[in-house]
Amino acid sequence: MCKILIKLKNIRKNYQNHCVLVNVNLDIYEGDFLMIIGKSGSGKSTLLNIIATLEKYDSGSIEYSQFLFEKSRNLNSLRGRNFGFVFQNYNLVEYLTMVENITLWRKKFDTETIHPYVYDIIKSLELTRLIKTPISKMSGGEKQRVAFARAVVSNPSVIFADEPTGNLDNYNKNIIMRLLSDEQKKGKTVIMVTHDLSLIKYATHVYVLESGEIKAYDNL
Ligand SMILES: Nc1ncnc2c1ncn2[C@@H]1O[C@H](COP(=O)(O)OP(=O)(O)O)[C@@H](O)[C@H]1O
Ligand SMILES: [Mg+2]
Repeated sequence: MCKILIKLKNIRKNYQNHCVLVNVNLDIYEGDFLMIIGKSGSGKSTLLNIIATLEKYDSGSIEYSQFLFEKSRNLNSLRGRNFGFVFQNYNLVEYLTMVENITLWRKKFDTETIHPYVYDIIKSLELTRLIKTPISKMSGGEKQRVAFARAVVSNPSVIFADEPTGNLDNYNKNIIMRLLSDEQKKGKTVIMVTHDLSLIKYATHVYVLESGEIKAYDNL
């Protein structure tokens, strides 16, 4: 599998006078577990959001493969059909229950009668006990597993993860990393940013973001 899924050419991003991304060139291959490491403030979230079409860039270009554009007329529908997100601070709605969070915006899943497909995901994450529990009553590890379930429920071909283990202890960190790794083994593409070097063992390609530029980790 060596098909380029997303290609970034000379991406530049400024915030006011501050240039966060100077000249980023990156090829992302189908089936990759791509990891971008960098210190806090190095621009990891900015880059991830740009690749995920959530944020604009100032110059350069991004090409998404024909495969991602199947049935999509524009970037919004491309994102909705193909991309799943796991965020550092979970981005869950605290007062809603787990199943409500997972199926929010997903019209085909009803929250009253839990769809077997949704139930299977919840079961595989060992969360069945908490199905009707509000997020506010869950631990960090449980919340991140719910966030993972929400990211994969639409069966996305690309999973974006922004420091998904940032708030977790070692036990829960390993659970989340194994889940992401399993998705990649099933053929999904995983794009993750982190400051945690100990996680690079899960990746197929590792890059470092520093001073607004990206370099292959092996070349450092
Ligand atoms: N919306 C914004 N407006 C102005 N500056 C921002 C904004 N978002 C991020 N920045 C700045 O851009 C830099 C990179 O931020 P970020 O991408 O969040 O880094 P990281 O995720 O690596 O910690 C930081 O200096 C941050 O303060
Ligand atoms: Mg960040």
